[in-house]
Amino acid sequence: MKTVKMGVIGCGLMGREFASAAARWCHLAEMDVAPVIVAVCDTTPQAKDWFVERVPSVRQACHDYRELLANPEVEAVYIAVPHHLHREIYCAAIEAGRHLLGEKPFGIDQPACEAIMAGLAGHPEVFARCSSESVFFPAVQRIGAMIERGELGRIIEVNSSFLHSSDLDPGKPINWKRVTATNGEYGVMGDLGMHVCHVPFRAGWYPHDVRAILSNLITERPDGKGGMAPCETWDNATLLCTARDRDGETFPLTFKTQRIAPGHGNSWFLEIMGARTSARWTSKQANTLEILRYDGGEQAWQVIDVAHDMAYRSITGRIFETGFSDVILQMWAAFLHELTHGRPPSAFAGCVTPGEVACSHRLFTAALRSHAHGTVESV
Ligand SMILES: NC(=O)c1ccc[n+]([C@@H]2O[C@H](COP(=O)([O-])OP(=O)(O)OC[C@H]3O[C@@H](n4cnc5c(N)ncnc54)[C@H](O)[C@@H]3O)[C@@H](O)[C@H]2O)c1
Repeated sequence: MKTVKMGVIGCGLMGREFASAAARWCHLAEMDVAPVIVAVCDTTPQAKDWFVERVPSVRQACHDYRELLANPEVEAVYIAVPHHLHREIYCAAIEAGRHLLGEKPFGIDQPACEAIMAGLAGHPEVFARCSSESVFFPAVQRIGAMIERGELGRIIEVNSSFLHSSDLDPGKPINWKRVTATNGEYGVMGDLGMHVCHVPFRAGWYPHDVRAILSNLITERPDGKGGMAPCETWDNATLLCTARDRDGETFPLTFKTQRIAPGHGNSWFLEIMGARTSARWTSKQANTLEILRYDGGEQAWQVIDVAHDMAYRSITGRIFETGFSDVILQMWAAFLHELTHGRPPSAFAGCVTPGEVACSHRLFTAALRSHAHGTVESV
């Protein structure tokens, strides 16, 4: 098996998810390439120590990312740090010629994203992708295959949502994701927005205008030191866009991202209404795919219990259900497969590209203007 020696910059929540995926690589039945985490970097000693204690392949643990990038052993990096650091650290990794899986939003704002794109343009040898995993649920892969085969007919409407209740509790202390300086003006769109754009963008459905309504529902939170701190970021965002399908026909495309969504832990929703076939799915019932095929007769939704058919085949039997850590593993398989073989096995089995991420920044920036002025803005 070929290996890719990896460095992890940012050893928090998502850094550890990668460590877990890498440790579980034998779960993938047909991969001919595997990651080996050889170096880690975090400014918090406990975060580094977590890796050193649990990941035996780690040979370098440092607090300055420049030291990690100077390590000639490191071939590719995963960068999972707060958003205000994306520009500096992604650009440094690209400049150092390291392949990159970068966390979303891939720059705290549009200028930061453009700087990263400029870095990539100057280093065509660097393979870069952005993290986004929900597309790897088998039901979403099935929807992707239907889109590729052109089974949906003219697109009538698309709704793509990601709803959390992570901020429902007003007593939850503030952290970097609720501060504009570290999370960005985009607020919840920077956190969750790329996830809801992934499937529509891969389908070729790009918004050309947007009317956005953004809400900051909880304006202060405990600061963890006995006082209160301002909570400036947008909690919820609804973006109603005009999009075009591949034939140039327009349709309404709605993106909804919420951190305050009563009743939802971490729920993805995707609903596509087509003149010939409609499909809908939610991670609340991750293994259930609903399809309605309309040929002039009765309208009847089929409720399909989707098999464990992963884009990158796993050892799990077809009858078993799929979860978050499975799709994280699939996303990593996609990154390493494409890095090694040059292309994903199918269109929807690939990670988000830099071009798609740049489009998400144009959308979120237009959404900020739209909300501020109460206008419909071009994307
Ligand atoms: N794909 C997903 O589902 C998903 C989920 C959550 C977060 N994310 C994204 O992952 C990224 C990180 O989020 P998280 O939830 O892991 O955050 P986190 O706060 O859990 O971890 C971030 C880590 O970065 C470290 N760090 C800060 N400054 C650093 C520096 N200069 N050098 C090295 N390390 C530094 C922190 O000490 C911390 O350990 C963000 O871009 C976020 O949007 C993605």
